[in-house]
Order: sequence, then structure tokens, then C-alpha cells
Amino acid sequence: MDKIVIEGGHPLQGEIAISGAKNAALPLICATLLSPGPHVLENVPDLRDTRTMLALLESLGATWSRDGDTLTIDTSGLNNFEASYDLVKTMRASVLVLGPLLARMNRARVSLPGGCAIGARPINFHLQGFQQLGVRHQLDQGYVDASVDGRMEGATICFDIPSVTATENILMGAVLAKGDTVIKNAAREPEIGNLVDMLNGMGAKIKGRGSDTLLIKGVTRLKPARIRVVPDRIETGTFLIAVGAIGGELTLSNCDPALLPSLYAKLGAAGVKVREEKDRLHVARREPLRAVDIKTMPFPGFPTDLQAQMMALMCFSNGLSLITETIFENRFMHVAELHRMGADIRIDGHSAIVTGTGGLRGAPVMATDLRASASLVIAGLAAEGITEISRVYHLDRGYDDLVGKLSRVGAVIHRQPA
Ligand code: EPZ
Repeated sequence: MDKIVIEGGHPLQGEIAISGAKNAALPLICATLLSPGPHVLENVPDLRDTRTMLALLESLGATWSRDGDTLTIDTSGLNNFEASYDLVKTMRASVLVLGPLLARMNRARVSLPGGCAIGARPINFHLQGFQQLGVRHQLDQGYVDASVDGRMEGATICFDIPSVTATENILMGAVLAKGDTVIKNAAREPEIGNLVDMLNGMGAKIKGRGSDTLLIKGVTRLKPARIRVVPDRIETGTFLIAVGAIGGELTLSNCDPALLPSLYAKLGAAGVKVREEKDRLHVARREPLRAVDIKTMPFPGFPTDLQAQMMALMCFSNGLSLITETIFENRFMHVAELHRMGADIRIDGHSAIVTGTGGLRGAPVMATDLRASASLVIAGLAAEGITEISRVYHLDRGYDDLVGKLSRVGAVIHRQPA
């Protein structure tokens, strides 16, 4: 168990190359189960979660090799349809093997993910969707045991909430179904567009990319894919917000400015200037930080995965900021840790009121979930004195070499055994 130690007060200066998106790489790795043969995935980040997903695929009979950020995955040897609890309990996204296994093997036995720090995170939309596609399932000792006689049957599925992984799971099931499937109230996150591109490249017939209605014409087989993982918009946003907190000037390369439509205006209103180029972003803060209100929404609204980072930023403004979390029921665990650094934050139901005090003081704090850890790093970069963050395994799930990237642009930050 490591901890991260940060000496606050050092503005950032230089260039950071953004990695591929965790939340795109995970479904793309699962989609290789849909067709035998060697699939090539480029720009794949090296994270705890991608390593866990590859271990899961290995347990199903797949083989893989990595050359830099390029993964070659061969699922010809698929010989198991059970995703075990010891793997699934560490990563909820394992549920994404359900669709491809049902499509390829007509059978899947996947452990229910269990609880998670930020909320109950049920998978009822996934299971209801598969039921409409002709899948029978039952709960057996904490596992979803699902099967279908032959191919799934296309259906019209409408989600109550535009769920990201439910959209991805049903998509991966429907591409090999008999007949047409329509997914209404589909999530529109860019990582889903990346998956649609991969599946269509494999021979699937999907229309409506990027919209809330996806039309899928089932086909009988797919061929191996070659796909590039989209840049990680949450990693990008995390660095933009970090410059807002500690000041300085950064260039972010290998990114896609179009993936964060709701962030730049918010940061601009707060006094953080972002200049967009083709695959680069320039960010600087030269004026006092202003308080802004945030309300998380499904894409293209403000991303829930940047809520904790924005809350840390608002602690350094001199005004009142209202932050409302509409996606998850328990995504304010970073508040208690920010309190330890002197933050003035009051929670009222799904909202938090941040009274910016212009600064924070370093302290020993504890990471509670992936994005909460990122908010503590941002707070530590700008706080006065030393901040020590324990349980950094949370951070390792979704950031590829965050400490290295920050130390190369002037942050005084290092990792050491706790
Ligand atoms: C994805 O989670 C992301 N994970 C999350 O990123 C992200 O925060 C979230 O989408 C929202 O953008 C991956 O892509 C691997 P949802 P997901 O289904 O799909 C409820 C990170 O930090 N719901 O869109 O699990 C759910 O409880 C992670 O990288 C049901 O009720 O989120 C939530 O309130 C955290 N039943 C809402 O819908 C279901 O069957 C939206 O969740 C499914 C979801």
C-alpha cells in the first residue's frame, strides 16, 4: 500500500500527453469476445482496471500481448463463460462481458458486482434489456446465471436513465442478434461512440452514433477489429482543473477537445482560460479564481467524473459554489477529506455548498474512490504545506502514471510505501 506525498505551491509548467480513456478501453476489450481471431487495440492505457479486465478475459480462455500502448487480444480459445467473484468484486465494469458472452456462447455466469463506494449501482437496466432480447437469467449464489436458446432476438429497449455500461452491454449483445434492435434513451458518452466504431469496423450494422437512439441490424458473424482508444476526457479535465487550482500553464497533447463540451465554459467563468487546438489544449490561470455552480448530468452535460475535482478547485475561490450531483447517490466522500485540509463545505442532500476560503492547508488524507483521489491530489498541489494521500490504489485504477506526469511539469510530488 503506497501513499502519495505532495508539497503544495508549485505552479505547473510544460506539456502532458493524455492517455487512452479507461472507460473506452474496458468495453473495447470486452468486445473482442464477439469474434475469434487477433484484435488490435491502440492507445490502450496501462491501468489497474485494464489489467484486471485482461485477467478476466484470460480466465475465459483469451490470450493477449502488449507492445507499448498497443494490445493484441485473441479470443479464438474462448472456453469458459464464468466471470468469477474475485475478479468482478474489484471492478464493476466486468459486467460488460455479459453481452459478448451471451452473443458468442449463448451463456454467461457473471458475479453481481456488489456494492461500490459511490452508490448501489444496480444492473437492472442491463438485465431487463437482455430479457427483452430473449435471455433468461436467475440469481444464483451472487451470480447472474444467464442463457439464451441460439441467437438473441432483436427488440426495442428504452432505458429509464441513459446508463453508459447498460447501453454498451446491450449494444454488444444486439450486434449478433436475429433482426433489428432499437435502444432508446441510450447514453451518449464519447466512449460509446468509440465502441460503435469498433463494432461497425468488425462488420456490425449500427446507426445513430452519438445520439440517444441506436439502431442495430443483427448480423451472423463479426471479424476481428483494429481500433484506437479515444483520449481520456476525464484525465484531460483533471489536469485542466489542476492548473485552475495551482496556476501555471500547461499544454495537453494527444487529447480531443471535442470530448469536454461542458467544461471549458465553466472553467472560463471561473477564470481558467482554455485554448483549443486540433488535438491539443492550452490552459492557464492568470486571474483570481471565481466561484461557479456545477450540476452533473449525462453527456453532453457536466461529467459526474469531474465533480470531485471541481469541488477541490472551488475551495480555492473566494465565493460560494453550489455543486449538485444528479448521477450517483453517494459521491461526496471526498468532502470529509477536504474538511481535514480546512475546506468549508456543507452537504445538503444531493448538493454541496462550497464556501471558497482562498486556500487550504496540507494534511494526511485518505482516498475513498477513484475520482475522489484525483480531487485530493488537486487540493494537495495548491494547499500550503505537505499533503499525504493514503490508499492510492484507488487512483491507480484510472490514471496512468499521474505522479510521473505531474512531477515532469513542476509539481513536487512522489510516491512512497505507506
Ligand atoms: C459509467 O458507469 C462509468 N464507468 C463511470 O465512471 C461514470 O461515472 C458513469 O458511467 C456515469 O458517467 C465505466 O464506464 C466503466 P451508469 P456506469 O450506468 O455505466 C443507475 C469512473 O470514475 N443505474 O451510466 O455504471 C446508476 O446507479 C467511473 O471512471 C441503474 O439504476 O454508470 C446511476 O445512478 C465511476 N441501473 C445512473 O444509472 C442500471 O442497470 C447512471 O449510471 C444501471 C445504472
